[in-house]
Amino acid sequence: MDMTQKRLCILASGSGSNAQKFFEYFQDHPKISIPVVLTNNVSAGVRERAKSFGIPSHVYPRKFWSKGEEVLDFLTKERIDYVVLAGFMLLLPIQIVQNYPKRIFNIHPALLPKYGGKGMYGMHVHEAVKVAGETESGITIHYVNEQYDEGQIIFQAKCTIKSDDTAKEIAQRVLGLEHENYPKVVEEEILKSIKNS
Ligand code: GRF
Repeated sequence: MDMTQKRLCILASGSGSNAQKFFEYFQDHPKISIPVVLTNNVSAGVRERAKSFGIPSHVYPRKFWSKGEEVLDFLTKERIDYVVLAGFMLLLPIQIVQNYPKRIFNIHPALLPKYGGKGMYGMHVHEAVKVAGETESGITIHYVNEQYDEGQIIFQAKCTIKSDDTAKEIAQRVLGLEHENYPKVVEEEILKSIKNS
């Protein structure tokens, strides 16, 4: 175990295509490693993906995420420095958020502050964007603070929407932007904070 590496834990509830990009990107990284994945969903696709990279995944069902004490103990015991939310569907307990100031990253599949907040997840976001007749959408990578979707924005990238695009097509384009940018932006932020510490 390299004691100088920053340890990043991924939290995901679903397929885990973003998580997969992180596994690939950080596989042989000199400064950042991904020792473990956490999920609330025993059958989440992310578990198979993690396994194929030799990364263990632990399941904490929904009830563990209301206070989060056991999860926080686990993160502490594993000496986790950063947390990455990649399609994690539950609200993160406040105790965890407060223990990781500017150390929890989230990605939202729209250009916040638009199309964020309650009920704005998955296809709901892209359907709302389509119904509003937006000509562009994109991604927002931000820190998680006590106000959740309102944490400091780190990075946004945009894509064009054509008037005949379906919500599904918008979703695909946005997901492509996520894959292309999320690991890179997290890496940059972590390297910056290493440099400044
Ligand atoms: C992504 O669109 C992300 O923005 C959102 O959930 C989706 C996760 O997809 N928070 P995947 O599980 O990474 O494929």
